[in-house]
Amino acid sequence: EWTSESFIETTIAGLKEKLGDDKVVLGLSGGVDSSVAAVLLHQAIGKNLYCIFVDNGLLRKDEFESVLDSYKHMGLNVTGVDAKQRFYDALEGLSDPEKKRKAIGRVFIEVFDDEAHKVQDVKWLGQGTIYPDVIESVSVNGPSATIKSHHNVGGLPDFMKLKVVEPLNTLFKDEVRRVGKSLGIDPNILGRHPFPGPGLAIRILGEVTPEKVAILQQADAIYINNLREGGVYDKVWQAGAIYLPVQSVGVMGDERTYENVVCLRAVESLDGMTADWCHLPYPLLAKISNEIINNVKGINRVVYDISSKPPATIEWE
Ligand code: XMP
Repeated sequence: EWTSESFIETTIAGLKEKLGDDKVVLGLSGGVDSSVAAVLLHQAIGKNLYCIFVDNGLLRKDEFESVLDSYKHMGLNVTGVDAKQRFYDALEGLSDPEKKRKAIGRVFIEVFDDEAHKVQDVKWLGQGTIYPDVIESVSVNGPSATIKSHHNVGGLPDFMKLKVVEPLNTLFKDEVRRVGKSLGIDPNILGRHPFPGPGLAIRILGEVTPEKVAILQQADAIYINNLREGGVYDKVWQAGAIYLPVQSVGVMGDERTYENVVCLRAVESLDGMTADWCHLPYPLLAKISNEIINNVKGINRVVYDISSKPPATIEWE
């Protein structure tokens, strides 16, 4: 019978044997998989694991700082890289969703490669790939096809020529969470909703600007904090706010306003392939709406997405 304890024991022993005194670089995302992979590798090879956590300026409000802090508390050897402006520059003028994704993927690879070069004699690239990712990428184009497709000119960056070590590639998501729990990882990291790699860029419809990011971060933070305080966060599979490129009329005191709309999305799902919209309690929705409209400058209207997947998708882009 599979237990997280025996998995941890054999995996750490295997990693020690495989890696010896070699150095490994690994990109942390703040998500469950990369965090669990990092802690396993850290227990096997300690300071020879070099973690890189990139602030792409598209994360949730205060997420970079708080997640970086918890990584440091876990004893990980981690470098936080503020690359916000590089991502904003690359996104300037882009409104097509796939062009936005490509730009973000390309800049991420450049930033990660720059950081990985600072580690002398690194031999391995650590990844938090889990079993479903393995099947998915092999069935489409072969492993790493997605990340490679982002890098269209000049050949592969150096870090992609490294040998790959993927300690979680036989596990399903619930097993990863159990391993993470046995390793003592912060429940806030383990229980976190999925969050897309391109982050808030695909929740700002059309062109992304730092100003829109700041507005969406405030609205999203109010939304997510209320889900937590209302005791529904763990019942929801994924939630987030979307910034719509639509303005509508409102009144504030005796003034007429003409500002943007934020849409709230919350879904129940098992794997993201299909999803139902969550029937959040009306009083909770009312509280969230009031708080957003009263506190977030630039938003005067909040709507709730009642579409299921299919035919809608979870994200709007
Ligand atoms: P959709 O919108 O396709 O989303 O129903 C299904 C799941 O995938 C996530 N998603 C992404 N994750 N890069 C990612 O890493 C992306 O470009 C991307 N697009 C969607 C989405 O958040 C949901 O969990």
